[in-house]
Amino acid sequence: MIRVEFLANDLGPAAAVDAEPGDALVDVSDACRAPVSFSCRSASCGTCLVEVLEGAALLEPPSSDESDVLDVFDAPPSQRLACSARLVARGEGLVRLRWAGSDE
Ligand code: FES
Repeated sequence: MIRVEFLANDLGPAAAVDAEPGDALVDVSDACRAPVSFSCRSASCGTCLVEVLEGAALLEPPSSDESDVLDVFDAPPSQRLACSARLVARGEGLVRLRWAGSDE
């Protein structure tokens, strides 16, 4: 099991859920009503950029589509797209995320 936590921000309170390895982060986000804004949900708009504060190794490497968008936004390696990232197929631990679009 992988615990996924989202910090509170101006979109809403903190949220957390116990996810299964291999789960798509977008499904995890929806399951716990994470305070993350989504628009396209298909790796093109960058709205869902999140900062990975802990547990980056528990996320699969970005796909080429995700990498292309991260490059467009000149995102540092610590940032991922919540609509595109996926938890690793095997592992357990904690992933802590903060929506990058928040001022908090
Ligand atoms: S919601 Fe558009 S890139 Fe993730």
